[in-house]
Amino acid sequence: MAWKKIAEKNTINLNNGKEFDINGKKIAIFNQDGYHAMDAICVHQDSSIATGKLDGDIVECPSHFWHYNIKTGELQDYLKGVKLQTYPVEERNDGIYIDLE
Ligand code: FES
Repeated sequence: MAWKKIAEKNTINLNNGKEFDINGKKIAIFNQDGYHAMDAICVHQDSSIATGKLDGDIVECPSHFWHYNIKTGELQDYLKGVKLQTYPVEERNDGIYIDLE
């Protein structure tokens, strides 16, 4: 376990995502039905999905509209079995933490 504080509380708006650069990795954290963290880079052409439109658990890549489940990282269209890596994330009294291990 390697929990790391990445943001103050209330800095990711409800029903939105935000991109963070953590140890050289682009991570998207979504505030939707709790916090969810996953790799931010779309497998299609490397756009960031962090600012994609959210519809329930599904985020839409802003570039060409591929979809991912923010809880599992699974790509929803085109390719079967493709997943972005997800990470444990939690809100604590002093901020938002992620475990990158
Ligand atoms: S880069 Fe995400 S759908 Fe094309």
